[in-house]
Amino acid sequence: MQAREWDERYAQRQQWSSEPNALVAELLAGLPAGDAVDLAAGEGRHALWLAARGWQVTAVDFSGVGLDRGRAQPGADRIAWVAADVTTWTAPAESLDLVLVAYLHLAEPETLDVLTRAVGWLRPGGRLLVLGHDLANLTHGVSGPQDPALLHSVQRLQPVADLLEVDRLEQVRRETPAGVALDTLLWGRRPS
Ligand SMILES: C[S@@+](CC[C@H](N)C(=O)[O-])C[C@H]1O[C@@H](n2cnc3c(N)ncnc32)[C@H](O)[C@@H]1O
Repeated sequence: MQAREWDERYAQRQQWSSEPNALVAELLAGLPAGDAVDLAAGEGRHALWLAARGWQVTAVDFSGVGLDRGRAQPGADRIAWVAADVTTWTAPAESLDLVLVAYLHLAEPETLDVLTRAVGWLRPGGRLLVLGHDLANLTHGVSGPQDPALLHSVQRLQPVADLLEVDRLEQVRRETPAGVALDTLLWGRRPS
């Protein structure tokens, strides 16, 4: 989807969710605060949650409507909000302690390119957290993009995992009001 289509989706609904994803919160809660990028931050629920815990956060998204929602939230002034396409935006090498990529769904080559570049932005020991709809969600889960070319899987994220010391690379279940959704999780750190 293009930026204009995401603007329209956000404009149709006030604040999709103000809460962080439960697994994202569980994994990040124990980390010491540092420098983070929330890539494809949308309305900034994770960026705001991290900033409230002392992180220096840059929130990047190409939807101006989504970013404006985030900017309107309490605590938003602690965050650098950047309107940019993540397929071309870049951060300095070895400048970050965390890159979070939640529910960004691009074609596989673009996904691998973005995530590979993101590993390069991490300091040694810095963390990459990727969470998104799993391919199996099409047949065994609810919601999410219905185009198989845009979905994650353990196999599709393996080339990125190969660049990391991996704590978790797996399919995970997420309870939703509509039923169980299947996500792919990649959680690892840049080798020291
Ligand atoms: C499902 S939302 C997820 C938002 C946020 N990460 C969250 O978990 O709440 C996907 C986001 O990806 C953004 N996005 C998709 N493709 C993008 C691109 N090429 N560059 C920047 N943002 C993009 C959309 O604008 C949208 O805000």
